[in-house]
Amino acid sequence: MIAIGCDHAGCEMKATIIEALSAKGFEFRDMGTNGEPCDYPIIAEAVCKEVLEGGCEKGILICGTGIGMSIAANKIKGIRAALCADSFSTKFTRLHNDTNVMCMGARTLGPGLACELAEIFLTTGFEGGRHQRRVDLITALEEK
Ligand code: RB5
Repeated sequence: MIAIGCDHAGCEMKATIIEALSAKGFEFRDMGTNGEPCDYPIIAEAVCKEVLEGGCEKGILICGTGIGMSIAANKIKGIRAALCADSFSTKFTRLHNDTNVMCMGARTLGPGLACELAEIFLTTGFEGGRHQRRVDLITALEEK
């Protein structure tokens, strides 16, 4: 199960991703918004909560640029969120950073690229090894 959410800027892109990836077998828990103008940190918190406590494997957040969502999500303990805009970074943030939330900009990416990036994010595993030590050091920063 994948938690997904957006602010008013990202509704269309969110619907496109849900439709395209549901057809490939992914399941989504839609945390809103669905048309109503809203403040993106509230949606970021709702999606991240589903990842941390609600049994969702990963989260996808969409706003105009993806930046506000990524700033908000990365304030939450246990979340490693990446702003994704190209396939190389999207692949390597999973391989090396073990990110559990991806953020995308609905006003900066086309729908085809967004769906492709979401699929890369959801299907790429963490490499572990030396990268686990680095992820542990990131986690330790949460206590400083
Ligand atoms: C909303 O207009 C816009 O500020 C928001 O979608 C996002 O881009 C913020 O980072």
